[in-house]
Amino acid sequence: MASVSLLGVALVGAGAPAPVSHTDNGRRIFLHGTTSAGRVVENSHGMEGMGCAMCHGPDGRGGMMHGIPAPDITYAALTDPNGHEHVFMDRRHPPFNGETIKAAIVAGIDPAGNTLHEEMPRWTGLSPADLDDLIDYLQVLSQGNRRPQPGPERM
Ligand code: HEC
Repeated sequence: MASVSLLGVALVGAGAPAPVSHTDNGRRIFLHGTTSAGRVVENSHGMEGMGCAMCHGPDGRGGMMHGIPAPDITYAALTDPNGHEHVFMDRRHPPFNGETIKAAIVAGIDPAGNTLHEEMPRWTGLSPADLDDLIDYLQVLSQGNRRPQPGPERM
């Protein structure tokens, strides 16, 4: 059995990712809930291998989880100068900024001081650097993913 586990270790070593960019770290956390170093990000749901994309969608534009809307979390949407009205939750709050986005992710607090629904995990395992990388990635999502213009093929 020892040889089997040694083989496992060797394979993990061989597959270890080369050093990657900050945005790549943010992308992995967003998509898979693991850092680019392969660390599972601890969260209040005890999820492993699942990231923000599971509920907020692979493009960050929002989705539904257990009947509760998971909002658009692209950076541009979160920092919309008009703030948000969450009709379903009967709640509104002013626009997010980088710091208040972090408070929402780690502690489930929005810019008005409201507590987010527990369906939104508290991502306690993110280091300050991980949080910066994740927010970088939310910025990438808002740049690359404007709402498609209506065209014949989408009608
Ligand atoms: C299991 C589903 C789930 C996962 C996974 C998840 N969220 Fe959420 N998130 C939600 C739900 C549901 C809400 C809405 C909660 C509410 O309105 O009270 C939310 C709200 C938020 C908000 C507040 C948005 C607003 O407009 O008030 C932010 C920011 C956010 N999530 C970021 C993230 C990030 C970043 C990740 C990944 C690290 C993540 N979420 C993973 C379900 C999820």
